[in-house]
Amino acid sequence: MAASIVPVSLNERSYKILIQAGLLNRLGARLDALGVRGKAGIVTDRHVAPHYLRDLVETLKRGGIDSVSIVLPPGEQSKTLDTAGHILDVLARNRFERSSYLFALGGGVVGDLAGFAAAIYQRGMPFIQIPTTLIAQADSSVGGKTGVDHRLGKNLIGAFYQPKEVWIDPLTLCTLPMREWVAGLAEVIKYGIIADEAFFSYLERTMPRLRKREAAAVAAAVKRSCEIKAEVVASDERESDRRRVLNYGHTIGHALETLGGYESLVHGEAIGIGLAQEADLACYMGLCDRTVVERIRKIVQAAGLSDRMPSWQSTKIWEAMLHDKKVSHGQVVGVWPERIGQVRMMPIDERSFRRWHKAVHQETLGRRPLQARTAVRGK
Ligand SMILES: NC(=O)c1ccc[n+]([C@@H]2O[C@H](COP(=O)([O-])OP(=O)(O)OC[C@H]3O[C@@H](n4cnc5c(N)ncnc54)[C@H](O)[C@@H]3O)[C@@H](O)[C@H]2O)c1
Ligand SMILES: [Zn+2]
Repeated sequence: MAASIVPVSLNERSYKILIQAGLLNRLGARLDALGVRGKAGIVTDRHVAPHYLRDLVETLKRGGIDSVSIVLPPGEQSKTLDTAGHILDVLARNRFERSSYLFALGGGVVGDLAGFAAAIYQRGMPFIQIPTTLIAQADSSVGGKTGVDHRLGKNLIGAFYQPKEVWIDPLTLCTLPMREWVAGLAEVIKYGIIADEAFFSYLERTMPRLRKREAAAVAAAVKRSCEIKAEVVASDERESDRRRVLNYGHTIGHALETLGGYESLVHGEAIGIGLAQEADLACYMGLCDRTVVERIRKIVQAAGLSDRMPSWQSTKIWEAMLHDKKVSHGQVVGVWPERIGQVRMMPIDERSFRRWHKAVHQETLGRRPLQARTAVRGK
C-alpha cells in the first residue's frame, strides 16, 4: 500500500507528512527526492534507540549516507539548553554543513530538541521528524514549534522552524508503553472537539479498537489528526490567532501538569482532564449544552484517561493558569466548545473560575481522583 500524504501548505516552507506502516524501512526513494547527501545526524533517546535506530542507520547507509547518532537520556529532563548545546557540539565536531540533514527519531522531547538544534545550527539546517509516540505523530512533529524548557517555564526558549518532511510509521507505536499510548489519545480526541464532529463520532465508535492499537484504526486517527493540525497551522503558522484553538484542554491541563511537577501526570493525562473540565466550565458559563460535556467525559474515560479534577485549591490552579505562556496582557484566554467540532476563544476571569471550581471541588471532595484513576501505568 502506498503512503498516505498530508500536505502542510506554508509557501516556501511547505512540506509533506508521509504516513505508512513499515515506512521506516522504505525511505530510500525519499532520501533521493529530498537530496539528502553526505553525512546526516540522528537524534534519539535511550528508549527508542534499541528498537529503531539500527533500521534508520541501515536505511541511510543503503542510500549512501553515513550517520552520526546522538542518543540522549529519555524524558522531559533532557529538554534543556544544555542538551541542545551537546547536540550542537557533536554537529560542529563532526563538521556538519548547513546542507547536512538532522533526523529526529523519537517522541515530542526528541522532536522539539532536535528541531531547535537544527533551527540554530549555522542559522538553520534541514531536519526530518520521525515521530515514534502518539503525541508526536498526531501533534508535536507537525507545525514547526521547536524548543527547550527553562527552569522558569516549559518551552520558554524556542523557534518556529519547519521540518523538510515528517515520516510517520504507525508500527513504531507498538512498543510504546501503555501509559504513553493512552496519554496520546487525549490529543487525538482534542482534534475531534475543535474541528470535526464526524471524526469525534468515529473516535467514539472506534475507541475500543484504538485502545488495542489496531493498525487500521491507529493509521486513520493519526492521519485525520495530522490533517486538522496541518490545516490550522497553515492558516496561522505563528499562533497569532486561529492556531490557539489547538490549546483546547491545555489551559487547565497545563496548570495541572505544572502543579504536579510534570511527574504525577504526563502531558496527555493532564490534557485528558483539561478536555473534560474545560467543557464543564464552558457549560457553566452557558457556552454549550450539558450533552457536549457528557460526550467528552465519556470518550475521555473510554480512552482510559481520568476526566476528574485533582484536588488542588482553586487559587493554586488559577495562579498556574496565569503563569502560562498563553496568557496575554494578564488575561487568561480559554478555548471553549460550543458544540462538538466547534470552539470559540474567550477570556475568563478569576471570579467565574473560582465559582465554577467550588462547585466541581464539592463534587470530588473526599475522593482520591489522581493516582487512583491513572491505573493504566506500567502495563
Ligand atoms: N512542538 C509541539 O507542537 C508540541 C506539541 C505537543 C507536545 N510537545 C512536547 O512534546 C513532549 C511530549 O512528547 P511525548 O509524549 O512524545 O514525550 P517523550 O518524547 O518524552 O516520549 C515519551 C516516552 O516514550 C518513550 N518512547 C518514545 N517512542 C517510543 C517507542 N516507539 N517505543 C517505546 N518507547 C518510546 C520515550 O523514550 C519517553 O520515555 C513535551 O516536551 C511537549 O512539550 C510539543
Ligand atoms: Zn498537548
